[in-house]
Amino acid sequence: MFSKDFIWGAATSAAQIEGAEYEDGKTSSIWDIASRMNDGRFSRFQKTPLSSCDHYHRFIEDVAIMKKIGLKAYRFSISWTRLMKENMNTINPKGLLFYNRLIDALLDAGIEPFITIFHWDYPQSLLDQGGWQNDKSVTWFAEYAKTVVELFSDRVKKFITINEPECFVNLGYLDKRHAPYYQLPEDAVFKIAHNVLKANGLATILMRQVAKQKIEIGQAFALTGAIPFSENDKDINAAKHCFFNHPDSSFWGTWFLDTIMNGEYDKKRLAKISISPDVLDKDMRIIHQTPDFIGFNMYSGTLTKHLGENDYQRMPDPIDSDYTMMDIPIAPSCLYWAARFLYEKYHLPIYIMENGVAITDSPDENGDIDDPARINFIREHLIHLSRALKEKIDVRGYFYWSLLDNYEWAHGYSRRFGLVRVNFENYKRTLKKSAYWYASLIKSNGEILEKERVDKNYGNL
Ligand code: FCB
Repeated sequence: MFSKDFIWGAATSAAQIEGAEYEDGKTSSIWDIASRMNDGRFSRFQKTPLSSCDHYHRFIEDVAIMKKIGLKAYRFSISWTRLMKENMNTINPKGLLFYNRLIDALLDAGIEPFITIFHWDYPQSLLDQGGWQNDKSVTWFAEYAKTVVELFSDRVKKFITINEPECFVNLGYLDKRHAPYYQLPEDAVFKIAHNVLKANGLATILMRQVAKQKIEIGQAFALTGAIPFSENDKDINAAKHCFFNHPDSSFWGTWFLDTIMNGEYDKKRLAKISISPDVLDKDMRIIHQTPDFIGFNMYSGTLTKHLGENDYQRMPDPIDSDYTMMDIPIAPSCLYWAARFLYEKYHLPIYIMENGVAITDSPDENGDIDDPARINFIREHLIHLSRALKEKIDVRGYFYWSLLDNYEWAHGYSRRFGLVRVNFENYKRTLKKSAYWYASLIKSNGEILEKERVDKNYGNL
């Protein structure tokens, strides 16, 4: 069912695992600054990404762990403020050395690197100049992305330009829930979203020009699944309509993805913004860069029921829903339906760039970590995903979020998503049962999914 080259992976991001926050020339990202704001936002945890998992000093050990698990690929991000000096024009040699050594260690271990160019840790020095609100942000990002490809595309073939524009734009600039904790009016946020789209487009153009070999470029969108209430055509169409429908006062859903793919804004949104048709036309030609694959991150989904022509109802979660520590319901068929809807619409290869669960796992008296809830979570999601493969939907890979317990943004270190436990006092790594299970799953190339009984008991969620 899974082809022999199906990519079994795990993902992380720089700010969440690297630590070494101000070492070897790294300067501040907006998360380094925001996590120190003393106004109560982080009061529950009072934590910064200062040391995180200390991956910067322990990456050799981490790559050995990945090899032990048998990962085919590892998705990680480059820290913009580590690779570039504070002026963001010159390369920081020590930052470059770190990423070169990491990439080489991965290749030596037979693990394919997937590089995320930007995973939320925006340089504070650029925010101080207006950040995404400044039109220059388009070239700032595109030049940085070009540099990443110039430096690494001799060895790396897969690049993700941006991680979850939906999250960092909505949560960071509209809702005041993530760095830089802004609450701007909708038209200012639209400008930010427009610049992000344009930056992505220009980056894609430049990256393709300078690549040292044929590379594949995509994004990791943050999508929530829409699951048909029943499998009759009406409910399936209602779920599909819901999946691609954009709320008109925020930038969630498939809004970023559809704009890139279609090269135009949806009419509802366009009616609300002032942008001259000439500028729009020119910008859209930059924005409209078809990616080589569609990458998306998905953690949950909502049941959706047909109500009438193009009308649907999002159903409340079933009474017996299991919730994760992030307060989202577990809905494993979300992956199947999203892959199917996206493939039917866009016919591009698909990667699940993130899927995972935070649970309250802790070591027993022997130091072992039994996390059946995580095993069940992965197993059920993959069983549903395998249906997509059986139906010849071109899903190329699955990345579990995350390899390591790590710095979960505004939640500090309180949410453990890892296959591997990290003790944040001494940085000791311990493989959880789920890591051993994932290893046997990879070894069997997914075969054990069919054989294992699916246990509905989610244990210690
Ligand atoms: C996603 C982020 C990732 C991590 C997971 C739990 O939204 O891309 O960095 O925080 O959620």
